Amino acid sequence: MLIFKKVADLQSWIAHERAGGRSIGFAPTMGALHDGHMELIRLSRRDGHRSVASIFVNPTQFNDLKDLEKYPRTPEKDIALLHDTGCDALFMPSVEEVYPQGQELTISLDFRQLDEVMEGVYRPGHFIGMATVVHRLLDIVRPQSLYMGQKDFQQLTIVRDMIRQIQMPIELVMCPTVREPDGLAMSSRNMRLSPEMRAVAPVIYQTLGWARTAMQHQPASVIQEEAMVRLRQAGLRPEYFDIVDGISLLPVEHWEESDFIVACTAAFAGEVRLIDNLVFKNF
Ligand code: PAJ
Repeated sequence: MLIFKKVADLQSWIAHERAGGRSIGFAPTMGALHDGHMELIRLSRRDGHRSVASIFVNPTQFNDLKDLEKYPRTPEKDIALLHDTGCDALFMPSVEEVYPQGQELTISLDFRQLDEVMEGVYRPGHFIGMATVVHRLLDIVRPQSLYMGQKDFQQLTIVRDMIRQIQMPIELVMCPTVREPDGLAMSSRNMRLSPEMRAVAPVIYQTLGWARTAMQHQPASVIQEEAMVRLRQAGLRPEYFDIVDGISLLPVEHWEESDFIVACTAAFAGEVRLIDNLVFKNF
C-alpha cells in the first residue's frame, strides 16, 4: 500500500492509475480504524476499483474541542489494517495540506432541514465542517465511487444531498453497519467505554430492534418515548430517538406514511456519546 502525505503526490499516482484504465473507489475516515471501516475498503475492492482511504481528523467538524483532543489516534495499527485488507493507497494529509492558507474552502450549500434535525440539534456546525472536508477530499481524489457507512446515516444523507447539489459525477455507496457480536455498532469511540458501559451499550441496538417491531402497530411518537425510557432504565443518557423518513429526515408517524423509514438515536454511555440507527423499511 502506498502512503501519501501531499495532495500533489496522491494526484499524480491517481492520474497514472486512470491513464491505465483504472477507476478509483474512495473511503474517507478519521482513523482509529476497525472492521466497519474495512468493510468500506472490501466493498470498493469488490467493485473493482483502485481503493483509496484517507485518514484525517478534521478539526472543523468537532464542535467540542475536548472531543477533538480525545479522538483516538492509532496510525500504525490503521496502516497495518488497511494493508491487510488490500487498500491500494492511503492519504494522510496535514491540516495545512487540507486547508491551505488563503484558500477559500467554505462551501455554500443549503441542506434545508437535513443538518438541523437529530445530530444537527446537538452538534451545531458539525455537518457543515464535515461537508466542507468531504467536498475538499472529493475534489482532490475525484473518485468514481465514494464508500460511506450507514452507521452515520445523517452524514450519508447530507453527503448524498451535497453530491446532488454540486452535480459531482460520483456514485455514493452505502455500506451496512458492521456490529460486534452483541449488536453494538463498531465505532472508534467504543474503546473509550468503561467495562460497565460496554456491557450496557448493546441496549441501543436492542431498543432499535424492539422499536422496529413495535412500529407495526403503534404510532412513532409513542415508540420514541418508550425507547427513551428503555435507554434511560439501562443506565444510558439518550439525547434523541427519532423515527424519520430516510431521504428527508422528517418525522414519520405511521408505518404506511413512507417507503423508507429509519430510526436514529444518540445516547451517552458514561462520557462516551454513541450513535446508531436501524432501517425499518426500505423501498
Ligand atoms: P469516521 O467516523 O472515521 O468514519 C469513516 C467512515 O466509516 C464513515 O463513512 C462511517 O460511516 C464509516 N463507519 C464507521 N463505523 C462503521 C461501522 N460500524 N460500519 C460501517 N461503516 C462504518 O465519518 C467520518 O469519519 C468523518 O465524518 C468523515 C466522513 C471522514 C469526514 O471527516
